[in-house]
Amino acid sequence: MPLVSTPYPIWSMYLFHASFLFYVYLVHVNVSSNNLHGKIPIEIGSLRKLEKLNLFTNNFSGQIPPTMWNISSLDVLSLAYNNLEGNLPEEMGQLRNLSVFAVPGNKLSGTLPASLYNMSSLFFITAAENQFHGSLPANMFSTLTNLQVFGIGANQMSGPIPTSITNASLLQVFDIGVNSFVGQVPSLGMLKHLHWLNLNYNNLGNGSDNDLDFTTSLVNCTKLENLILSTNKFGGPLPNSIGNLSSQLIRLYLGDNQIYGTIPESIGNYINLIALVLEYNQFTGTVPNTFGKLHKLQLLGLGINQLSGQIPSSLACSVESPRERINMRDVIRELNVTRKAFLCGLVNVEYC
Ligand SMILES: *[C@@H]1O[C@H](CO)[C@@H](O)[C@H](O)[C@H]1NC(C)=O
Ligand SMILES: *[C@@H]1O[C@H](CO)[C@@H](O)[C@H](O)[C@H]1NC(C)=O
Ligand SMILES: *[C@@H]1O[C@H](CO)[C@@H](O)[C@H](O)[C@H]1NC(C)=O
Ligand SMILES: *[C@@H]1O[C@H](CO)[C@@H](O)[C@H](O)[C@H]1NC(C)=O
Ligand SMILES: *[C@@H]1O[C@H](CO)[C@@H](O)[C@H](O)[C@H]1NC(C)=O
Ligand SMILES: *[C@@H]1O[C@H](CO)[C@@H](O)[C@H](O)[C@H]1NC(C)=O
Ligand SMILES: *[C@@H]1O[C@H](CO)[C@@H](O)[C@H](O)[C@H]1NC(C)=O
Ligand SMILES: *[C@@H]1O[C@H](CO)[C@@H](O)[C@H](O)[C@H]1NC(C)=O
Ligand SMILES: *[C@@H]1O[C@H](CO)[C@@H](O)[C@H](O)[C@H]1NC(C)=O
Repeated sequence: MPLVSTPYPIWSMYLFHASFLFYVYLVHVNVSSNNLHGKIPIEIGSLRKLEKLNLFTNNFSGQIPPTMWNISSLDVLSLAYNNLEGNLPEEMGQLRNLSVFAVPGNKLSGTLPASLYNMSSLFFITAAENQFHGSLPANMFSTLTNLQVFGIGANQMSGPIPTSITNASLLQVFDIGVNSFVGQVPSLGMLKHLHWLNLNYNNLGNGSDNDLDFTTSLVNCTKLENLILSTNKFGGPLPNSIGNLSSQLIRLYLGDNQIYGTIPESIGNYINLIALVLEYNQFTGTVPNTFGKLHKLQLLGLGINQLSGQIPSSLACSVESPRERINMRDVIRELNVTRKAFLCGLVNVEYC
């Protein structure tokens, strides 16, 4: 399901040299996937009609020129996968028409500017794989009411998940993996369009029995395909409702937490699963026979638990060699790649 279809023609510009700066009436500039390097010219600010600027996958370095934040006509700004550094200034809030802001895969640092959270035109924000720190404002989803994609994975962010996420009814992707977020996860039952939830590699939960209560609210997220909760501090047993999630579930990562109790048979009903990772927990009992129904499984992690009995023979047939022990680094690596492919595939390749 495409997030947005963008059928408009892109007037491509494949040369990025001084002469184009005379084209002050340029509306779309797309110089993506080239080998361009050096700084983004300061004169970019004179393109006063510019609506779409795609410079992704080049090797632009240095800071984003301050004139960028004066191009108030900008609708799409993608600087993804370059070598850009420095901070995002408060002035970026001047881009009142911006709907897509994509800067993953750079060396940007500092805190995200407060004005960013005021930009209600935004429906797509990715700033993954940078060096941002600081916390997210609790009310950010009360002002970013159109947000469909929010990705801040692989940064140095901390603090709790914003409580206002409870109301973010349009959110499809929430990816904060590989950061230092703490606390309990709010109820997500209003997020009817959610299909990617990645909380991997944070400090969420505190080893207590109700840490996973929020998963009960996920029963409402009937489009959920990826539920990634591994490497946190989630404790307690799995709620019964873990078997009532979306039948479209393809990835379920619960590994490297403090979850105990038996593995519910109902997990075997998610016949579309390609990855099921439960290892590095304190599960007891046997591996449910229902796992034999998981014919699409490519990755199964059960190791480092207190399971007993045998691997169901049905499973041995469906999974060629269940990887008993997955290095949790492999999980991050796989998710790094999957996240990029997923985000870039969700929207048009134009953005990432
Ligand atoms: C990108 O630019 C940096 C310096 O700005 C340079 O060290 C690096 O080799 C360049 N990478 C590519 C792939 O050209
Ligand atoms: C932005 O535009 C304003 C008004 O035209 C001007 O005063 C300011 O110097 C510009 N800022 C930059 C960084 O270009
Ligand atoms: C912002 O978008 C609106 C609606 O498309 C348009 O009328 C307006 O001119 C745009 N503003 C700027 C500064 O381009
Ligand atoms: C956010 O918007 C409100 C209302 O328009 C304004 O009062 C506030 O100063 C803005 N904050 C930032 C950081 O831009
Ligand atoms: C959710 O929205 C309602 C209605 O606007 C509001 O009263 C409530 O405070 C919001 N909840 C959070 C956690 O922001
Ligand atoms: C689930 O959806 C129903 C109907 O839209 C809503 O009334 C309920 O509050 C939602 N549950 C949660 C936990 O948000
Ligand atoms: C875990 O966090 C919850 C909610 O913040 C709190 O009520 C509980 O006391 C904490 N438990 C432990 C063991 O720290
Ligand atoms: C979960 O599904 C079972 C049937 O598979 C049903 O009996 C139960 O009421 C459901 N629970 C919730 C919380 O939806
Ligand atoms: C995942 O991506 C981040 C950011 O690019 C990188 O720092 C990290 O090393 C990657 N992790 C693995 C395990 O590949």
